[in-house]
Amino acid sequence: MLLQVAASPKGFGKSFTAGAFFGTVCRRGHACGLFEGTAEILGGGIAQVFADLPNGKITVCKHLLFIAGGVGLAPLRSVINYCRRYRDRYGRIDIVCGSKSRADLLDYDEIVNEWAKDDNVHVHLTVDRAEDGWDGHVGFVPAYVKELGFDNDRVAVLCGPPVMIKFTLNELLALGFSKEQVYTTLELRMKCGVGKCGRCNVGAKYVCKDGPVFRLDELETLPDEY
Ligand code: FES
Repeated sequence: MLLQVAASPKGFGKSFTAGAFFGTVCRRGHACGLFEGTAEILGGGIAQVFADLPNGKITVCKHLLFIAGGVGLAPLRSVINYCRRYRDRYGRIDIVCGSKSRADLLDYDEIVNEWAKDDNVHVHLTVDRAEDGWDGHVGFVPAYVKELGFDNDRVAVLCGPPVMIKFTLNELLALGFSKEQVYTTLELRMKCGVGKCGRCNVGAKYVCKDGPVFRLDELETLPDEY
């Protein structure tokens, strides 16, 4: 399964939820498949799992802001579900998800029917362009974050295409977030995800081995190639 994935898609996202391994495959800019296996598929190959964040790096405040673009929701999903599972450890949770179209919004049913119904979880969906049958927000993620104007009393966690990350980081800084409050994953740079293809480097760092999660102050020590 993994070799097949590494050979073909444009992007590959991985996530864990309660011991299960999920891979999301993106081909030519569209999420085209979600497969599920077990952690044993990758063995020790996963050096850092984003789902570990709530226990480890996210300790500085209880309110959380998740921002996902396109297939970038895949790695955030496990963190979000972790926080939902241990709901009493966190305060308000805001989730911003953007995609090209309604059809490209990953996990739409779970978002609408489960996440949005949780206590003090606020979901904000947006699509890039207006379309028939969509009466929600229209516009790109960075502009939507600016429009929503979040208080900076929380930790922000981002994943999405590099251009989305760059412009959203600017908006968060403009809202007064410190660099220590913002985490992002460069997951979408990864191809094989296990240190074999050599295509995920940012400067001397391999995203799949040294990340993929970086705090903004760490990220700024890397070359501007992400
Ligand atoms: S994704 Fe292949 S080496 Fe990092």
